[in-house]
Amino acid sequence: MQAVILAGGFGTRLAPLTYTKAKPMLPLLNKPMISYLIEALPEGVEVIVAANYKNEQLQKYFDENGINAIIVKEPKPLGTGGAVKNVEKYINGTFLVLNSDIISSLNFRKFIQYHMKKKAFVTISLWPVKNVEEYGVVDLQKDGRIKKFVEKPPRHEAPSNLINAGAYCMELESLDYIKPNSFVSMEMEVFPKIIEDGKPFYGYTFDGYWIDVGRHSSYIEATKILLKNKNKKYVAGDSKIEGKVKESSIGDRCIIGKDSMIKSSIIYNDCVIGENAVIENCIIADGCKIGNEVKLRNVVVGEGEEIKDGEEIENEKIWTKPLPKGYPEKQIGNPVRR
Ligand code: GTP
Repeated sequence: MQAVILAGGFGTRLAPLTYTKAKPMLPLLNKPMISYLIEALPEGVEVIVAANYKNEQLQKYFDENGINAIIVKEPKPLGTGGAVKNVEKYINGTFLVLNSDIISSLNFRKFIQYHMKKKAFVTISLWPVKNVEEYGVVDLQKDGRIKKFVEKPPRHEAPSNLINAGAYCMELESLDYIKPNSFVSMEMEVFPKIIEDGKPFYGYTFDGYWIDVGRHSSYIEATKILLKNKNKKYVAGDSKIEGKVKESSIGDRCIIGKDSMIKSSIIYNDCVIGENAVIENCIIADGCKIGNEVKLRNVVVGEGEEIKDGEEIENEKIWTKPLPKGYPEKQIGNPVRR
């Protein structure tokens, strides 16, 4: 069996972190996000990564860590459906499709078994949410079959509180629903057509945790969930900690100065945090220098940035260099500090 990992997005909502790193390579407890998915796959499943932006970082990581995976680069972004069609030649039967930015407790073995038992054409994983009006929810029969998707329904009209959780088990023939070499959305185009054609399309709910690591807040949330699962207050690689750290992840070779407080934050490698600084709900990319007495709250600091002594910043993204070539941002070429 093959698992196609969708890893080609730019991750614009996670900028400026994604100006220098591919989203699947962003660290969660100091390990690239994509490694959690790969480790959770049952033995023998072949990994195919549909990649694009900064795919060379993935290749380097796989090579260095002896991970067997085929990386397929798209000539241009093809969307979540087009990207799967683009790797069709590597698929030889029932297969998985996985969003690379979902961290969850989904048991893939049980998920595949459910798909087989139902003799489904497609099975998608489902997760319950409170705020149905922000998502597409499913209309589900008692036997687990999905009748339709309802986009962002008002709460009282929602047929369920279950949303697409970003992992699919599919039959090879489902690829016939995707036009080759075209930008196709799996969720918006392929799935509705399959349901309309009356193919057995099922939903699989599971317990535990699920988090879409697409935004800064959910990235920090995912870090906290993983820390809790490991029963740890923080992780800190081989860094030197002279201050206090709570519910945070700190990479390697960092220095956290005396009397500083790091709370609910993610700090990558090679960062220096001065003395008496307060860092809360922040993400600080590799090689940053944060001065003494600095206070940062809800701030994302891009790679190699410096914050001078005594600065107090809230709700900002710090990036003072030009944007990477081809990155889909309105401010292309402009240094931004937002
Ligand atoms: P944003 O720009 O912040 O929306 O992030 P994103 O570009 O990653 O998009 P989104 O979160 O909607 O993508 C969901 C998953 O599909 C992620 O794992 C992406 O890497 C992946 N993905 C999105 N578009 C493409 C694409 O065109 N090609 C490939 N191969 N993967 C894609």
